[in-house]
Amino acid sequence: MKTQVAIIGAGPAGLMLSHLLHLEGIDSIIVECRTREEIEGTIRAGVLEQGTVDLMNATGVGTRMMREGHVHHGIELQYNGIRHRVNMYELTEGKTIMVYPQHEIIKDLVARRLKDQGTIYFNVRDVSLHNINTDTPKIQFRKEENSELLEITCDFIAGCDGYHGPSRKMIPDEIRNEKKQIYPFGWLGILAKTPIANPELIYANHDRGFALISTRTPQIQRHYLQVDPNDDIANWSDDRIWSELKTRVETKDGWTLPDGPIIQKNIVSMRSFVCEPMQYGRLFIAGDAAHIVPPTGAKGLNLAMSDVQVLTKGVAAFYHCGDKDKMQRYSDIALRRVWKAQRFSWWMTTMLHRNHNHSPFERGIQVSELAYVTSSRAALTSLSENYTGLPIEWGSMEALHSQV
Ligand code: FAD
Ligand code: DHB
Repeated sequence: MKTQVAIIGAGPAGLMLSHLLHLEGIDSIIVECRTREEIEGTIRAGVLEQGTVDLMNATGVGTRMMREGHVHHGIELQYNGIRHRVNMYELTEGKTIMVYPQHEIIKDLVARRLKDQGTIYFNVRDVSLHNINTDTPKIQFRKEENSELLEITCDFIAGCDGYHGPSRKMIPDEIRNEKKQIYPFGWLGILAKTPIANPELIYANHDRGFALISTRTPQIQRHYLQVDPNDDIANWSDDRIWSELKTRVETKDGWTLPDGPIIQKNIVSMRSFVCEPMQYGRLFIAGDAAHIVPPTGAKGLNLAMSDVQVLTKGVAAFYHCGDKDKMQRYSDIALRRVWKAQRFSWWMTTMLHRNHNHSPFERGIQVSELAYVTSSRAALTSLSENYTGLPIEWGSMEALHSQV
């Protein structure tokens, strides 16, 4: 098989990249190691930045999102049992966020790629990358266990295969610079059948730990609790989860959280991670393959979407103008936004989670930071512009941006 861009991974990064390339008249093939049902059923992110919403709409895949998603004009921050509304719409002069689940985006993108005759191989095995430092890279894979090895030759490989995929490790050790931080926090996430708890998301700091109240549909809600990252979900009965959530988000003025049957629960650990550079030879890595943020800033999926926009511009310049240089700037341009999102995610995480190793002094500083942020228009504006999404700094690609 032959294509222009071989894409490993059908997550938000791989699928959106394939869609954007198609709109530029560039051919791609996606190989994905999970089944279509699995990728369309995995519950993950929920918050889309304004730029992600605009991208979905501008490229014709936003219809269902606009119908079924929920536009939020702000969030609420809570500490010491008191809520503080952050009016992001007003502070950013009209920006909002959209609550629309990641797996629905996956469904929309898969449906559109298949409608546009795109090729996606689901449930593949043994994906490997070859010749990435030559003009003729290729990937190999099997359609199923023990079946013959198939080969896709291509001009470029896009590694969109998440944190555990094989792509990043193909960048030689002496070139790959990985920067990381592990947090002593985990998130226990639930999906529950209850009415909507609050019109906007609540990020709550409490002595017992952080809690987040989010939503999915009018009937199904998504909430998170800070737990020990090594804790076992078996230790968390539904009663214990509700009791802990209620304690952490109750307010002094008597607000209570509606409860109901929990239909899914799991624990994820939290890390910050950046791989520099995001390119080696003819391999480009994007999304979680290149960087991980702790989920408190709701940035992971959104960064995957901005990476692939930058990559598409570079690849399009190569095919449309024969310009190889623009593509070489992919890593620099993408990393600028990645680092800003890393800073914001780290800041939200440290401000909102309860670090039980902290001294009373450090806890005092944390509460004082919350008091400052919730009372300063400057701080609230900074939070709002980061949360609704910073622009891509095209820099030296600016000219290209207007051309392609
Ligand atoms: P992935 O979604 O991980 O996709 C990679 C794909 O590659 C997968 O389908 C995988 O099966 C496939 N793959 C892996 N290895 C191979 C292989 N060897 N061969 C073929 N295919 C392979 N982000 C936000 O923006 N907002 C939020 O509100 C938010 N909340 C979150 C809440 C939680 C609890 C979690 C866990 C994450 C959250 N995120 C959020 C982060 C977001 O889900 C990820 O950043 C996003 O999925 C990254 O997309 P991706 O396409 O880069 O990677
Ligand atoms: C959701 C996830 C997040 O990481 C976040 O910061 C806000 C909301 C969610 O899944 O709804």
